[in-house]
Amino acid sequence: MRGAQITGWGLSLPDTVVTNTDFEARLDTSDKWIVERTGIKERRHGGTTSGLAVESARRALERAGRRGQEIDLLVLATTSPDQTVPATSSWVHHRLGCRGAAFDLNAACAGFVYGLVTAVALLDAGYERALVVGSDTLSQITDQSDRNTAVLFGDGAGAVVVEATEGEPLILAHDLGLDGSLARLLYCDKGGFIMMEGREVFRKAVRATVESAERVLKQADVTAEEIALFIPHQANIRIIDAVGQRLGIDPARYAICLDHTGNTSAASCGIALSEAADAGRLKDGDLVLFSGFGAGMTWASAVVRWGGAPAAPTSAGGPGARG
Ligand code: ACO
Repeated sequence: MRGAQITGWGLSLPDTVVTNTDFEARLDTSDKWIVERTGIKERRHGGTTSGLAVESARRALERAGRRGQEIDLLVLATTSPDQTVPATSSWVHHRLGCRGAAFDLNAACAGFVYGLVTAVALLDAGYERALVVGSDTLSQITDQSDRNTAVLFGDGAGAVVVEATEGEPLILAHDLGLDGSLARLLYCDKGGFIMMEGREVFRKAVRATVESAERVLKQADVTAEEIALFIPHQANIRIIDAVGQRLGIDPARYAICLDHTGNTSAASCGIALSEAADAGRLKDGDLVLFSGFGAGMTWASAVVRWGGAPAAPTSAGGPGARG
């Protein structure tokens, strides 16, 4: 497998903060219930999926020292595209001035990890430099008068630049999956709002995430103790705790952002990664365990080795060069 490395990261959150107290004022709920049952204290509402994606991607490009023209592959994970047609990645690609391939990927809240694995596989197939962006504006498809869902979701985007190198592989093991028989647990009809059987999603999410994470740890031949940072999908702190406990990962090694973002769906792992990297929680050689789950039901896990300065880029050519 060709080497690859994450060379830049960034996130974007809209300006409007919606606190639990704001919900208390208009719904039959309380800050206490929301914090105890979910771990969420506030979330952000606003912006568009493309706008947030562009902002997070610009930050990731800046950190990588790259320009849009140097990107030959854009994978935009989203469940809330701006339009049905064209793909939201079209606007993002245009605004960033990327070249080469771009597409939307809908794997719900597992989208960022699905996107990362897909991008790395395409780098292996010859592309040179990928942008992986998770961006969602679920507030637009959430009934803000339904306490069962309104308090859970927020808007945001997280992005990484991934470059092909002559060095080590980025992903040591991955596991992507789906159980379509569970699609009825969480869905949104066209023009409608998110409908969810929360308790059932919770149960299935814990099981799927644990099993998937165990598979990748085994495949990568690493133990839970060797994981420096666990970056789970940010839906509910009780789900994260249940998974972390079963895997044997100390909470000090969790990357958590849901307290101030809520569940940002495909963006959540990208946002949590960016915040952790900005906070200096990652050093070269660290093993990172990503795990996501979402509507579908999808799941995605990956063991990633965090790298240092990029190795010498591979020679020009491959499919990306044709873009
Ligand atoms: N405030 C107060 N009470 C509430 C609220 C609220 N905001 N929301 C629900 N309740 C009530 C329910 O109506 C229920 O009342 P009842 O017993 O009178 O019927 C009671 O609280 C308990 O409901 P439960 O469903 O048992 O509560 P639970 O502890 O399971 O927490 C929650 C609910 C937070 C939704 C939890 O089940 C959960 O997080 N599930 C997973 C959801 C998830 O991860 N979704 C995203 C998937 S990713 C994607 O693809 C978008």
